[in-house]
Amino acid sequence: MLLERRLRLIRGVRVVQRASGPFELQIVPMRRLSHDEVARLIERLPETTGPVVTSALSPVEQVPFRDHGFTDFEALHLLRHAFAPAPNRSSPAVIRPARRSDLKRVLEIDAQCFDSFWVLDRAGIDAARKATPSHHYVVAELNGNVVGYAITGHAGAPSFLQRLAVDPTVQGIGIGSHLVTEGVTWAMARRALHMMVNTQVSNEGAARLYQSLGFVLDTDQLMVLELPR
Ligand SMILES: CC(C)(COP(=O)(O)OP(=O)(O)OC[C@H]1O[C@@H](n2cnc3c(N)ncnc32)[C@H](O)[C@@H]1OP(=O)(O)O)[C@@H](O)C(=O)NCCC(=O)NCCS
Repeated sequence: MLLERRLRLIRGVRVVQRASGPFELQIVPMRRLSHDEVARLIERLPETTGPVVTSALSPVEQVPFRDHGFTDFEALHLLRHAFAPAPNRSSPAVIRPARRSDLKRVLEIDAQCFDSFWVLDRAGIDAARKATPSHHYVVAELNGNVVGYAITGHAGAPSFLQRLAVDPTVQGIGIGSHLVTEGVTWAMARRALHMMVNTQVSNEGAARLYQSLGFVLDTDQLMVLELPR
């Protein structure tokens, strides 16, 4: 389990400090920051020897960080689904609400599916679930075993596919598509008007899957930035 602390250095920003892993500090703004706020934040950052990165930022959110020397770390595609027509895919898996007892298996699947920068621990799963006022957390079961999971969130008109992962040994048989369409059905029933998802530009398989389900690439690309040392 990763050891981490959450720091509140200025209002509207969460800073995650990790004892080990691919970064030491991650800056997660909850709103758009001004040039002066980013300056104040940098002044208050604890001394570090490891990488300092941001969460995924839109082009306009990136500006004050770039003004203070942050540079590109990783680009993300942003995709949007307008729910018309709604995707409809099934698979051999059964999708059901996740239970507390599924967490160990969910963390295992996540660790098999994502590299160390993006992998979630228990706190990360909690944060993905709490990122929106309501959320839908499900697992896919195949022959009685949990083989995938998805977290979808809803906040007014937009909904968000927060997380999606399928055990690599059973990928390519429709379970990922099934989890996405189940999340879209949930969001539509809650009167969301569209769904957003982001994925690493390098993750061509995921982008292709989303596009095959009717997601369209947004013109804005998101970027994780880093503060060079
Ligand atoms: C992305 C991910 C969730 C997709 O899950 P999956 O279960 O493999 O998804 P599907 O099986 O529905 O679709 C994957 C591919 O298999 C194909 N496929 C689906 N059902 C199929 C079937 N019955 N027979 C053959 N191929 C099939 C799909 O067309 C798709 O092909 P494509 O890559 O050419 O688009 C999975 O690869 C994963 O966990 N990746 C790592 C984590 C990740 O990237 N998550 C998303 C981050 S945003």
